[in-house]
Amino acid sequence: MKVFKEKKPLKVYISKLKAQNYTVGFVPTMGALHQGHLSLIKKAQKKNDVVVVSIFVNPTQFDNKEDLLKYPKTIENDTKLLNTVSCDVLFYPSVNEIYAEKIVSEKFDFDGLENQMEGKFRDGHFNGVGTIVKTLFEIVEPDKAYFGQKDFQQLQIIKKMVKKHAMNVKVKGCPIFREKDGLAMSSRNTRLSKDHRNAAPFIYKTLQKVRKNFNGENSEDIIAWVENEFKKHPLLKLEYFNIANEKSLKTINHNESNKKYRAFIAVFAGEIRLIDNIKLK
Ligand code: PAF
Repeated sequence: MKVFKEKKPLKVYISKLKAQNYTVGFVPTMGALHQGHLSLIKKAQKKNDVVVVSIFVNPTQFDNKEDLLKYPKTIENDTKLLNTVSCDVLFYPSVNEIYAEKIVSEKFDFDGLENQMEGKFRDGHFNGVGTIVKTLFEIVEPDKAYFGQKDFQQLQIIKKMVKKHAMNVKVKGCPIFREKDGLAMSSRNTRLSKDHRNAAPFIYKTLQKVRKNFNGENSEDIIAWVENEFKKHPLLKLEYFNIANEKSLKTINHNESNKKYRAFIAVFAGEIRLIDNIKLK
């Protein structure tokens, strides 16, 4: 695996690949890699000649300083994992390489997608995500880029950005990868205490019950039921639960029963914030 810490030599390397008509698949990550990331890489390998993975803990997408400081950094293990799946290229830049002196976000208009759910609770988060993903796309110039559906709102926002800025990249959303007990894989899971880790599968179990009981018209009852389930839970604190249109991400409206819906949830397990979602029938 080739490792680049600077954008210029990476750009030169990629332009050489492109000159030979190689297609480039890209998997942007913040490291602390797990099987979910590896599944994105494997998907990318099937459809592209060369796969680039980036590892960069992006400061501008964190609204909580503590969360940024404590974000797991496991580059040695990440490098080993990337070698096990024969990843071609790792881009592992410093904050200075990406932002120089100005660690600030560009301001984006994602047609309101940024104001729903995560946007209500994480101030400036999606401007930070848009800034880094746009920057990385400009450096890597991928043909296809792969994102997990755990961050479904992020995925829709990136698709919107690509469309609005006429970027020449296909954005692919990939299924959520889960632990055996149903917990959605996340780099943050490694920070859960034993008790919180044992409690966390309750999130997906609740989503599965929502999926079973949702009939297009009972969303208010379901939302109230979920809120009550978490009120009773001794270890998990619900931040939000919402049933929303997959495209607009707006809360379900009774007049649109032919649309596609998804249930979205954010929960605190101690100080660790977990998100998940499920497609509804
Ligand atoms: O989903 C993530 O890991 C990050 O938000 C991303 C897309 C790599 C941007 O920093």
